Amino acid sequence: MAKELGFGVVGLGMGKHHCRSVTEAQGAKLVAVCDVDEDRLEPVAEQYGCKAYASYEEMLQDDEVQIVNICVESGKHAALGIQAADAGKHMIVEKPADITPERVDQLIGAVKDAGVKAGCIFQARLDPLNRRIKEAIDSGKLGELIGVHGHLPWYRAQSYYQGAHGSWKGTWDLDGGGSLMNQGVHTVDLIQWLAGGVASVMGMFGVFGHDIEAEDQTVALFKFKNGAIGTVYTTTCCYPGLSQLVTIYGAKGSIMKDASKLITWKIQGENEAEEEEMLGLYGSREDKQKNISADPMAVSSDGHTTIIADLVEAINEDRDPMIGLESARHAVEIINAVFESGRTGREVEVG
Ligand SMILES: NC(=O)c1ccc[n+]([C@@H]2O[C@H](COP(=O)([O-])OP(=O)(O)OC[C@H]3O[C@@H](n4cnc5c(N)ncnc54)[C@H](O)[C@@H]3O)[C@@H](O)[C@H]2O)c1
Repeated sequence: MAKELGFGVVGLGMGKHHCRSVTEAQGAKLVAVCDVDEDRLEPVAEQYGCKAYASYEEMLQDDEVQIVNICVESGKHAALGIQAADAGKHMIVEKPADITPERVDQLIGAVKDAGVKAGCIFQARLDPLNRRIKEAIDSGKLGELIGVHGHLPWYRAQSYYQGAHGSWKGTWDLDGGGSLMNQGVHTVDLIQWLAGGVASVMGMFGVFGHDIEAEDQTVALFKFKNGAIGTVYTTTCCYPGLSQLVTIYGAKGSIMKDASKLITWKIQGENEAEEEEMLGLYGSREDKQKNISADPMAVSSDGHTTIIADLVEAINEDRDPMIGLESARHAVEIINAVFESGRTGREVEVG
């Protein structure tokens, strides 16, 4: 049996989900939690019977902590990740890896220099339906891709952006944007992963329904590396919060999904059995995250658990994790290019 590895979770908002996932993941043991907010720290440490650190630096000195889950504000990910790498710890970094590609590069450099492993949370890539869609695209079943679209008409009340743990959201400095970087990064990553990367973008964004700095509504046009074009729409203004829609059009077929439920699977020349199989498997799927369009804490922990178990395996087998920082970087690069386009009114090349 593989060696069990010790985890320390820093940042106990989303980090609470990581604690649960660590306890569920094979080969993982929750050793410590850390938060500067003692009101968050003590109850979580008590719930899991683990060590409590109010100082991140002190947790990094704990030899029982071999992997750190970085769940602090997005604009602090690289800084805390670099500290972890320098202390010889492996890590799992919440999405986005950080808010600029330059900072993600610094983190990638520190991870390489330290010879540790780092995984990033993009749980949508693990969803079985999303994997089947990717397989259909990569195998050429859908033919040449024509259009790939992702729409995220979510809702967050003004209170979401307020208070000790809300006021960083929707800021440029710590959130790197608003609806596109915070909520929409999963949609951006999903469609770039499905389509194989984005070459250039055009964007428009603004603040429409909240008192925040960055944006709560963004529209972007994507030109994919393979020549397809597409759209991304993200907002937190859409009361009461509707579900994510992803549509893929290829020369030989169309696929559409509503959150994790398959709506359309039509592929030219396919026998009807596959359409029936796909609709049977995914067409009436109970949506585990059905409240997430309105409730930020309604995230399912399944994907997190898989990513944690994968990092344990990657360390034990000395291989790369399933979703590493290099592949998580592209979404950050795309989003920054959308904002640059919105500011300049010009098409912006990605990378
Ligand atoms: N994968 C997902 O679906 C998902 C969902 C929600 C949030 N997230 C990500 O999780 C991250 C955290 O988001 P959140 O909503 O939980 O934010 P939050 O503000 O609720 O939590 C962040 C916590 O980090 C703590 N913290 C900050 N700096 C610290 C330090 N140096 N040492 C110790 N503690 C420190 C804060 O006190 C706070 O409790 C963000 O990057 C966000 O994008 C991911």
